[in-house]
Amino acid sequence: MRYPEAYMAKEVKTIGVLTSGGDAPGMNAAIRAVVRVGLARGLKVKGIRRGYQGLLNEDIFDMNSHDVSDIIQKGGTILGTARCLEFKTHEGQQMGADICRKHGIDGIVVIGGDGSYRGAQALSRLGINTIGLPGTIDLDISCTDYTIGFDTAVNTAMQAIDKVKETSSSHERCSIIEVMGRNAGFIALWCGIANGAEDILLPEKYDFDEQKIINNIILSRKKGKSHHLIINAEGIGHSASMARRIEAATGIETRATILGYMQRGGSPTAKDRYYASIMGARAVDILIAGKTNRVVGYRDGKFMDVDIEEGLAMTKSIDEYEYEVSRLL
Ligand code: ADP
Ligand code: F6P
Repeated sequence: MRYPEAYMAKEVKTIGVLTSGGDAPGMNAAIRAVVRVGLARGLKVKGIRRGYQGLLNEDIFDMNSHDVSDIIQKGGTILGTARCLEFKTHEGQQMGADICRKHGIDGIVVIGGDGSYRGAQALSRLGINTIGLPGTIDLDISCTDYTIGFDTAVNTAMQAIDKVKETSSSHERCSIIEVMGRNAGFIALWCGIANGAEDILLPEKYDFDEQKIINNIILSRKKGKSHHLIINAEGIGHSASMARRIEAATGIETRATILGYMQRGGSPTAKDRYYASIMGARAVDILIAGKTNRVVGYRDGKFMDVDIEEGLAMTKSIDEYEYEVSRLL
C-alpha cells in the first residue's frame, strides 16, 4: 500500500503517540516508526509518557528522530506505560481530548490492547483522530493474527522451558511450567508444541480432570520417559497446588515454575521489530489519510486496519486443528 502525495492533505498536522496497558517487546520499534514516518511525512510528533495517565498529567514532549535512535533492539517502552482508571470516565476522556487540543494534537497512535482501544474510541468520538496498534504478548486481540510482543515472549518462554526441562530430566521429575497469557492460551499452546510438552493446559480447553493428567504421567513413566513436562496457562493458574497434588498421587517428584514477567522483557525478535515498524508506519499513514477509530492488524498474510468497534466485537479462539496436533505430538 502506498499513500501518494495527495493524501498529505493537512487534516492532521501534529500527532501524539502513547503506550498503554502491559508493555510488550516491539513497542519501541512501533514508537520509532510512528516518530520517523510522521516526521518524514512532514508532521510534528509528540510523545506522551505513561499512557492515558500521562495524557491527563500533560506529560507531553516534542519528539525528533534522534529521540528514537538506538531503541529498536530494546524491550519495554521508552514512553512508559500505566493503567489509568480516570480515563474510563467521561470526565477523564473529555479532559484528555481538551489536553490534546491544547497541545495542538489532532491525531494519536495508541499502542496497547483491547482496554486501550476503548480509550482510543472515546478520544475519536471527542474529535481526536485515533488509531490503535496491537501491543500485547498475549495474542488475545481478535481482529489480528499478530500482536506486537507475542513472538518475543513465546521465544523467551521456550528458551526458559528448555532449561527447566533439562534439570527436570536429570532428576526424573515432573515439571509444571506456568506461562502468561491472561485468559488466553496462545503462549501455552505455542510453548507446548515448541517445547515438546507431554500435557498442555489451556483455559479455553481445560476440563479440570486432574486424574487424566495423573494417569498420563504414570503411563509415560512406565514407557521409560525421564521427565514429564506440563505447560500450564496463567488463566488456569494454581501450578504450585497442582504440583503438590500430582506428587502425592504419583509418587513422582513434581515442581512448579512460574515464568512470570521475564516473558514481557527482553530484546524483541526480528519479527516483532519488523511487524511493529510496518504497523507504526501504517498508523501514521492512515491518520494522514483522514481515518480515525481504527486498529491496525495483520490478517490472512496482510497488514490491514479495521474499525475499533468491529474489531472489539470479534472473537478469537484456539484453532481446533492446531490443538489436536498438540495432543498428538
Ligand atoms: P490493555 O490495553 O492491555 O487491554 P487495560 O485493559 O489495562 O490494558 O487498559 C489500559 C488502559 O486503557 C486503562 O488503564 C485505561 O486507562 C484505558 N481503558 C481501559 N478500558 C477503558 C474504557 N472502557 N474506556 C476508556 N479507557 C479505558
Ligand atoms: O497482558 C500481558 C500480561 O503480561 C498478561 O499475560 C498478564 O496476565 C498481565 O499482563 C499481568 O499484568 P500486570 O502487569 O498488571 O501484572
